[in-house]
Amino acid sequence: MPPSPLHIFAPAKLNLFLHVTGKRTDGYHTLQSLMVFTDAGDELALSPHDRLQIETEGPFAAQLGNPEDNLVCKAAALLAAHYKISPRGKIRLTKNLPVASGIGGGSADAAAALKGLVKLWNLPEEPAPLLQIAQKLGADVPACLHQKPLWAEGIGEKITPLPELPDLHFVLANPLVPTPTPQVFGNFQHGFSAPIRIFGPQKSTGEWIASLKACRNDLTDAAITVTPAIRGVLAALAATPGCLLHRLSGSGATCFGIYDSAELAQAAASMLKRNHKDWWVTQAGMLR
Ligand code: C5P
Repeated sequence: MPPSPLHIFAPAKLNLFLHVTGKRTDGYHTLQSLMVFTDAGDELALSPHDRLQIETEGPFAAQLGNPEDNLVCKAAALLAAHYKISPRGKIRLTKNLPVASGIGGGSADAAAALKGLVKLWNLPEEPAPLLQIAQKLGADVPACLHQKPLWAEGIGEKITPLPELPDLHFVLANPLVPTPTPQVFGNFQHGFSAPIRIFGPQKSTGEWIASLKACRNDLTDAAITVTPAIRGVLAALAATPGCLLHRLSGSGATCFGIYDSAELAQAAASMLKRNHKDWWVTQAGMLR
């Protein structure tokens, strides 16, 4: 019997706030962001194979381009090159998250692939090479390796864990209009935000929400320019009972609402699904 595949979860990330604080000479923007990871995500199943092969399935698999161009393949190639081995293995990617949607799907898949391939190839569990490779793959990939609440700075690679964040409950809503990150940054015209201090120490949920409300997602206007439907998604989330905060995640188009309980989030998700059958809507808990 073939060995059972190794299953690795690739959680969606949410930027609870995102401030753009400057622009580097290489064109990348410097940010401050509080990021969390949710129990909604993609799934990877890895098994031994004589060459590298990626198969895709799931509700959003059709939106993925050529599998060879997938960030998962690039992650495998960079990891194999670092350890001077040939990349081998079958990776089945179940794409549950909409693509180009501001919740890090591609970055999460790449980070999950790195974690899984270290196990599949019996490589040493050293964080430093993974972090280095993650940085080459994209600005959000280092954070996606972490998968727990964190404060991100730099272009996203400077990470401070935030274990004191209380449990939050989310609804994610996306109008299903792919919103490419480079286009959103290209439309960014906001002045830069002054750097702020990391939140804390220990606060109640109400204090965390108040701190978050004092912040923004600076990419919101630029994302609405690229995908005007975002405006309606934000308004619909704001109108759900018990919504403590509604905001765009990353460069969009996914927006999220925060709720005090899983029951309130569930009710809000049901309401949005009923009223907006052409959107992707899901309730999600927070990984910690
Ligand atoms: O790193 P990633 O591939 O996710 O970024 C996609 C594009 O988004 C970059 O090429 C850049 O145009 C923009 N970007 C940026 N500053 C960041 C992250 C992304 O300008 N911190």
